[in-house]
Amino acid sequence: MQDSEIVDQIDDTPIARAAQAAVQAIGRAGEGLPRPATTRVMVVANQKGGVGKTTTTVNMAASLAMHGLRVLVVDLDPQGNASTALGIDHHAEVPSIYDVLVEGKPLADVVQPVRDVEGLFCVPATIDLAGAEIELVSMVARESRLQRAIAAYEQPLDYILIDCPPSLGLLTVNALVAGEEVLIPIQCEYYALEGLGQLLRNVDLVRAHLNSALHVSTILLTMYDARTRLAAQVADEVRTHFQAEVLSTAIPRSVRISEAPSYGQTVLTYDPGSTGALSYLEAARELALRAVGPNGSLVGQQRDGSSTTAVRGTEPQWHGTTEGQQ
Ligand SMILES: Nc1ncnc2c1ncn2[C@@H]1O[C@H](COP(=O)(O)OP(=O)(O)O)[C@@H](O)[C@H]1O
Ligand SMILES: [Mg+2]
Repeated sequence: MQDSEIVDQIDDTPIARAAQAAVQAIGRAGEGLPRPATTRVMVVANQKGGVGKTTTTVNMAASLAMHGLRVLVVDLDPQGNASTALGIDHHAEVPSIYDVLVEGKPLADVVQPVRDVEGLFCVPATIDLAGAEIELVSMVARESRLQRAIAAYEQPLDYILIDCPPSLGLLTVNALVAGEEVLIPIQCEYYALEGLGQLLRNVDLVRAHLNSALHVSTILLTMYDARTRLAAQVADEVRTHFQAEVLSTAIPRSVRISEAPSYGQTVLTYDPGSTGALSYLEAARELALRAVGPNGSLVGQQRDGSSTTAVRGTEPQWHGTTEGQQ
């Protein structure tokens, strides 16, 4: 056997492939991405549970930080899954977003650095937050408490990603008031778009009354399984409705992505060479590169200068992602 053949064979082992991919991923991560002129506050929302909000929040945030940007994750879900995935303790005594929203504590008092990822920070959520939804109801400026806390935070940040709970209550409204951009992860599954009309109507309501800058800027397809026709159909349907907002990178279904949180890690540190890590790095690049237009407008966002919520004003068929509908 020729030496070159042996080398070829060694190169073709799974470990060698993973190593190559890791080098590629790390190399790309070091490339750097444009720093937005002002902090981009992204609300990661979808009132359905289990569609990849938390996974997207932590992995996009880690990807952006690994590109040299300063990123804060605000965990706004009482489950505290984003905190867990970032290795941040969130037992009941930990100072958390609850203290900020309900007690009026400064954000700076509850921000924690994320181990292993420079430039990445997290405001944890504890179980107390479950009560905040009700406690906030009777409070002054109940919809804008997060927005005020963020405005008073003086540390420089390039991105703030807010991980919302799977509901459209006051916590999510606080996020929608605090951010300008909504990032909607959509799981490539049956009924992917069901219920989304309600989220979009809430976005419209908040824009009309509380935050005129709010818009859906980004849609990310998650848990994409290239082997199934259903995933391709859902992706087509989403692209038909939303067009320019949909990132061309879809996140594949990946065991590595789902394993990472149990180690208190993002997939970027857990397995940097995995396809899951690479796809989040790519999605984050896309997200960041869309932001370089003049005066903060998103490049490639609106084809006709119209509003970014592509389906606004129409009532699309939000159910039935299969059998030839749309
Ligand atoms: N691309 C993916 N591949 C495999 N599992 C995933 C992927 N994205 C998310 N998951 C898993 O799906 C479940 C729901 O994801 P999660 O991000 O917690 O959704 P949400 O925050 O919308 O409720 C979690 O167990 C998560 O690990
Ligand atoms: Mg979640």
